[in-house]
Amino acid sequence: MKNRNPSKSSQALLRAAKTAMKNAHAPYSKFKVGAAMLTTKGEVFTGCNVENASYGLTNCAERTAIFAAVAKVGPKMRIRAIAVVNDHGVPCSPCGACRQVIYEFGPEARVFFHSKKDGWQEAAITDLLPEGFRL
Ligand code: THU
Repeated sequence: MKNRNPSKSSQALLRAAKTAMKNAHAPYSKFKVGAAMLTTKGEVFTGCNVENASYGLTNCAERTAIFAAVAKVGPKMRIRAIAVVNDHGVPCSPCGACRQVIYEFGPEARVFFHSKKDGWQEAAITDLLPEGFRL
């Protein structure tokens, strides 16, 4: 995992994630999350967390973005990078379920996330999820 200043293109991704975060439906956790993913073809898709009164039905921002991408351009899309932000300024690397979903569509994806304490972090999905499941 690297601590570094994001490149121009990752800065655009982070801005898109922040914009998406504003649409989060997080009345239960009060923790808003936004994600923006870049496909290998250069398209950007965004998502936010969508919670539910039945807590377990919550969808994370990362999976919202990925599912939106598949719905729009189909299952052959591949993730080059995904950025995640939250409104608490704490480190927010993707949860285990989202790591597996990122890996499905982006075995070489780079993941960016931010915290006030550590700044921007960048990691390969395979570092966050060693031995990801494949059929
Ligand atoms: N959440 C995300 O959207 N992405 C993450 O990477 C971590 C957690 C959401 C799920 C829930 O709505 C809230 O954050 C608190 O767990």
